[in-house]
Amino acid sequence: MKGRKMSVRDLDVRTRSVFVRVDFNVPLKNGAVADDTRVRASLPTLRLILERGGRPVIASHLGRPKGKAVAEMSLRPLAANLAGLLGTRVHMAADCVGEAIEAQARRLGAGEALLLENLRFHPEEEQNDAEFSRRLARPADLYVNDAFGTAHRAHASVVGITRHLPTPAAGLLMDGEIAALTRLRDHPDKPYVAVLGGAKVSDKIDLIVNLIDKVEAILIGGAMAYTFMKARGVAVGSSPVENDRIEHAVTIMTRALNSGVRIRLPLDHVVARSPEPGRDSETTTGPRIEDGFVGLDVGPKTREAYANEIAGVRTVFWNGPLGLYEVPPYDEGTSAMAHAIALSGAFSVVGGGDSIAAVNRLGLAGRSSHLSTGGGASLEFLSGVDLPGVLALADSTG
Ligand code: 3PG
Repeated sequence: MKGRKMSVRDLDVRTRSVFVRVDFNVPLKNGAVADDTRVRASLPTLRLILERGGRPVIASHLGRPKGKAVAEMSLRPLAANLAGLLGTRVHMAADCVGEAIEAQARRLGAGEALLLENLRFHPEEEQNDAEFSRRLARPADLYVNDAFGTAHRAHASVVGITRHLPTPAAGLLMDGEIAALTRLRDHPDKPYVAVLGGAKVSDKIDLIVNLIDKVEAILIGGAMAYTFMKARGVAVGSSPVENDRIEHAVTIMTRALNSGVRIRLPLDHVVARSPEPGRDSETTTGPRIEDGFVGLDVGPKTREAYANEIAGVRTVFWNGPLGLYEVPPYDEGTSAMAHAIALSGAFSVVGGGDSIAAVNRLGLAGRSSHLSTGGGASLEFLSGVDLPGVLALADSTG
């Protein structure tokens, strides 16, 4: 991934039909958009195209419908949401390929947009099928990829289509994500501390291995902490552990020790007999969790110690909640981390749905340098993987 990628700013979009791949894989509740962070994140690119007289033909996947049309995974609710945010007409297409769609795209008036139906209703999307890619490209003159969250998927709308349209370009969100994550990956200001939470160690092994060469400390919370604790021989009670990852955890901790990187595990926990809301919770006095109890959040000593680690650093990366964020009161460790990062003054990148939800809920979004819309994509990028969706974009000649 060398040099700058062609940007939507470099394209002459006037009167042109522009296929814009976005990531509108958002949570829906009762048929409405429950969190439109990803839709808002696509607005600067869509506005730029509209203001310059281009006609956006917008495409996304939603969920994993496995190649079949599934009514609950229709993008239709997104059309209304987007129209409201953009203040323009957004027509909804019945499909994402076919002659009717091509005609609908041609009929778009100035200032209007077309939202295609869920790309994954066709199995060929995930197969990166050559013919499907060609059909997707048909209604468009130009291609812009603003779906950073999907850049780790070599799918037809991300990779295959770029062979059929000239100078495939990055959208503004894609540009911003690449810039922020490249800074973290290639030239972070030191000291640099990473905070990792969430359920699974298995999702983050490659990332941690890559971080060991870059950071001073890795602060671990969330359910993945229990696997590390068990690897260190600390009792975890009935907390979830990935037993098949214990060896990985030991290897990671040995490597970190040899590199002088501190891997910090919780000093105390909020625990209960079961995770259901309303069950009495307790705070442990130390790192051990007794039999019959499950760890549900980091405790107050951990929150303070982790906040102290972050005060004064120059770079922070945070991915994943430190506790069972969606069930109060087990959201307090995650909220404390959001506050600590906001106060740090560091160059901070926050990724992952729950961490971003915490930052948004606390009104701290403006206090992070960058909120990454990519979950898996940001983790892969920071693990050192070249993302297929980024590789497929044209290099800028400027
Ligand atoms: C995401 O939400 O991480 C992206 O939209 C990718 O979705 P996927 O994991 O279903 O490919």
